[in-house]
Amino acid sequence: MITEIEKILAEINTFTAGSDDELEAFRIKYLSRKGKIPSLFERFKDVLPQDRKVIGQSLNNLKTQAQEKYNLLKSEISEKTIAKKGEYTDLTKPTGFQDIGARHPISVVRRMILEIFARIGYNVAEGPEIVDDWHNFSALNFPEDHPARDMQDTFFVSNPLTDTDKPILLRTHTSTVQVKMMESAKPPIRIVAPGRVFRNEAISARAHCIFHQVEGLYIDHNVSFADLKQTLYYFATEFFGDDTQVRFRPSYFPFTEPSAEMDILCKMCNEEGCRICKYSGWVEILGCGMVDPNVLKLCGIDSKEYTGLAFGMGIERIAMLKYQIDDLRLFFENDLRFLKLFEGAV
Ligand code: DAH
Repeated sequence: MITEIEKILAEINTFTAGSDDELEAFRIKYLSRKGKIPSLFERFKDVLPQDRKVIGQSLNNLKTQAQEKYNLLKSEISEKTIAKKGEYTDLTKPTGFQDIGARHPISVVRRMILEIFARIGYNVAEGPEIVDDWHNFSALNFPEDHPARDMQDTFFVSNPLTDTDKPILLRTHTSTVQVKMMESAKPPIRIVAPGRVFRNEAISARAHCIFHQVEGLYIDHNVSFADLKQTLYYFATEFFGDDTQVRFRPSYFPFTEPSAEMDILCKMCNEEGCRICKYSGWVEILGCGMVDPNVLKLCGIDSKEYTGLAFGMGIERIAMLKYQIDDLRLFFENDLRFLKLFEGAV
């Protein structure tokens, strides 16, 4: 009998079960009423008295070991099924280190820009990405059929040919938020409006059909071109550093008069000429101007009482200059090797 007991003990010790069914088979084979262990107990009554002590101890040991093995396997299997269902088995277990990622450079630069303007009293305003023709063009002094509309290749949501009444489109610039603000608030108005804009352009290293802009608008009594220049000079030096040199060039936008573009001296080559500045020594960073009195009128603001300044910049462009990135597409590809460069930036 001792050899039988030892054989069963060896079987039990090497047994493993991966499922409830296998474990149940184990229970039936060894522990159930007709199983191997109870039948050994059954035969115990025939054991000779002088052998009873030794065999009795081995039998009891066998039974405990079998029961313990059964309990252990049962708890292992149920833990496995819980883990499979995605439930927590042990909330106190330390976790593995997780990659927490980084903020996207566009978010980083957007925050920096807004923060610089917040310091001089600009509030943040936002507007919808889908707008009507009025908010994107007409209220901003783009006459019907005027070539100025071609400056911005537009994605139409409604059909511009059949739905000529009130075309709906994806905004081509955040200047739409100017209109919304002027229509809904009384001066003084001092806002920066960040957001996504859309243009029907072929994607390349320098252009994309989706990008981001920050628009600025300040309307009050006696706002002058000097205010415009000082505001933007302040921005350029805060953002790019005290040693930044700027220049204003006359330009044209339908909604400002006079209009200008602001350049900064190219930091990459220090006026020597390089790929970034297209060998001119200067890089354009934004468009700006004094709000055209006609725009004030169209948006319900008394142009005799108030004047305003406005500016608009592309966030990608500013980010490219700040971080010396020469391909716009990197911002949209979500390549982790690129995004990791901004780890820790806020
Ligand atoms: N909306 C212009 C664009 O998308 C940028 C711009 C230029 C905005 C001059 C302005 C401005 O407010 O005054 O190209």
